[in-house]
Amino acid sequence: MNRARKIYCRVFQKAFRIAIPLLPYRKPEILNGINELPGLFRSKGIKSVLLVTDKGIRSMGLTKNLEAIMAENGIALSVYDDTVANPTTENVEEARRLYISSEAEAIIGFGGGSSIDAAKAVGARIAYPKKPLSKMEGILKVLRKIPLLVAIPTTAGTGSETTLASVIVDSRTRHKYPINSFPLIPRYAVLDPEVTRTLPPSLTASTGLDALTHAVEAYIGGSTTRETRKSAREAVRLIFSSLTEAYHNGNDMEARRNMLHAAFLAGSAFTVSYVGYVHAVAHSLGGKYNIPHGLANAVLLPYVLEKYGKKAEKKLAELADAAGISGTDAHEKALSFIYAIKAMEREMNIPEKLSGIRVEDIHELSEYADKEANPLYPVPMLMDAKELEEFYFDVAETKKANVVTIA
Ligand SMILES: NC(=O)c1ccc[n+]([C@@H]2O[C@H](COP(=O)([O-])OP(=O)(O)OC[C@H]3O[C@@H](n4cnc5c(N)ncnc54)[C@H](O)[C@@H]3O)[C@@H](O)[C@H]2O)c1
Ligand SMILES: [Fe+2]
Repeated sequence: MNRARKIYCRVFQKAFRIAIPLLPYRKPEILNGINELPGLFRSKGIKSVLLVTDKGIRSMGLTKNLEAIMAENGIALSVYDDTVANPTTENVEEARRLYISSEAEAIIGFGGGSSIDAAKAVGARIAYPKKPLSKMEGILKVLRKIPLLVAIPTTAGTGSETTLASVIVDSRTRHKYPINSFPLIPRYAVLDPEVTRTLPPSLTASTGLDALTHAVEAYIGGSTTRETRKSAREAVRLIFSSLTEAYHNGNDMEARRNMLHAAFLAGSAFTVSYVGYVHAVAHSLGGKYNIPHGLANAVLLPYVLEKYGKKAEKKLAELADAAGISGTDAHEKALSFIYAIKAMEREMNIPEKLSGIRVEDIHELSEYADKEANPLYPVPMLMDAKELEEFYFDVAETKKANVVTIA
């Protein structure tokens, strides 16, 4: 990145860093079970609610209790269950129409980040009936209050239940972009590890590594606060102590609870302190090829951390301490931390490469990543679109194939 742009990025980030205490960050109120919801809605005079979820979750019966409890309490529940992984503008518009036709007054996002993000975006579209989602991309574009939003995460990963972000794919262009605005922080979150029990090992791994990426990217960035550093370190500690346990034994409820807590903490850290290039690149890949978000992050994370080298060494050494990884100095600890991430990923069968990336798409994708990350994300080392291309080549199986062919 050229010098002038670097200066611009750092000044921009500094301004946001200084503004942190002035911005309306808040956390959702935590509920321990869905049985608290009818009373909540009744206390607010709400008689009709939209549930946003996906077919997989509903067909497993995860929403059954909620549907029953709402019916027993005379609260109408309209269900939109067509959300796809990497939710689209089309999902949001369909769910919005259901919200309106069912005269709903509140929204529940029940599922992984995809369902919760779709629910948030429905709320934004209800608040702004004439503004398309594409005009809400970026920071602080949604200022009006959205309908009451409850998030019920069924993956221990995205932390969407506590963040100001909703990440949506444009159905037409396949551009995936975050909408970052304070009214999108859910008012309530139900944190119940029981609903994560059914997560299969591969999704436990990839969504848990998404949470790890949030904690790491937030911590090594330049806009941390004492609280976000504490949350990120605690998330890293919990993930290193519980993720592989939850992967090997999905019924280990202690590990599931720790992971849900870790995902929440990591979400609380990055919503204030941002993510970094791992996420910017992962979003572009998720939008273009539908690569699951957690998987893209998991594969990219070691490459990006290695690229940062010395610039992230001290912070990574601190995270190594949090994870209980030893070393004689910061350099060794940072390397051991990256090595430990790779070892954990190998243990959980996370691949080292991603299939399907086309070399001819990389230029456009890295432009998207550049646009998302710069100037906003306070990353340890600034890179422009041209430099970010390296990460696509790092993780693309195609590169390996090409090299083999040429050789
Ligand atoms: N808003 C934010 O702050 C934020 C942060 C990170 C990621 N995201 C976004 O969240 C999305 C990814 O969310 P995700 O990783 O949670 O996955 P997801 O919501 O896309 O779900 C992935 C799959 O897991 C299944 N699933 C979910 N819970 C299950 C359970 N308990 N048992 C069995 N199957 C279950 C779903 O049916 C789906 O098929 C991406 O679009 C990503 O960009 C948002
Ligand atoms: Fe993420």
